[in-house]
Amino acid sequence: MRRAVCPGSFDPITNGHLDIIGRASRLYDVVHVAVMINQSKKGLFSVEERIGLIRDVTADYENIVVESHHGLLVDFCKDRDIPAIVKGLRAVSDFDYELQMAQMNNGLSGVETLFIPTNPTYSFLSSSLVKEVAAWGGDVSHLLPEIVHTALTERLAENKSATQDG
Ligand code: PNS
Repeated sequence: MRRAVCPGSFDPITNGHLDIIGRASRLYDVVHVAVMINQSKKGLFSVEERIGLIRDVTADYENIVVESHHGLLVDFCKDRDIPAIVKGLRAVSDFDYELQMAQMNNGLSGVETLFIPTNPTYSFLSSSLVKEVAAWGGDVSHLLPEIVHTALTERLAENKSATQDG
C-alpha cells in the first residue's frame, strides 16, 4: 500500500485543499488527511468540526482517511508507516517555509515531501484570507465547497451576534 499524508490546519478546508487532496488520492493507494492541532492558535472551527467538514466533502473518495494529530507530523507518519507528505505550492512565497519544513521533516525521520503545484485558480487562496473576506461580507462562495461555505457563514453570524450580545 502506498500511503501519503496531506497535513494542514484546514480551518476550514477550501477548494484549494480539496484540489490537492483529490490529486494526491489519484497518486497513492491511501491518503491520510491530518488536521494538525495547534493549541496556541484558536481556530474558527473546532478540530472535530474541521474533521466533519473534510469527511463530508471527501465522501466520494474511497481512499481518504481523515484524522487529527497533536504533535509532530513525522510522528504521525511513523505511527502509520507513511513515507510521503504531499503539499500544495501556491506561489514562490510558499517555497521558503515549505522547503524548511520539508528538510526538517526529512532530517528528523527520512520522510519525503512532494509538492504539487496548485491549480492557478487557487493560487491566492488560503483559509485565513477566506475567513477575513467573508467576515467583511465578501463573496467567497466560489472558493469553498457548498457545505463549508454554509458552515462558515453560520459561524461568522454566530460570532457576530455573540459579540453584539456581549
Ligand atoms: O495549514 P497550515 O497551517 O499551513 O499547515 C501547517 C502544518 C500544520 C502542516 C505544519 O505546521 C505542521 O506540520 N505542524 C505539525 C507540527 C510539526 O511537525 N512541526 C514541525 C514542522 S517541520
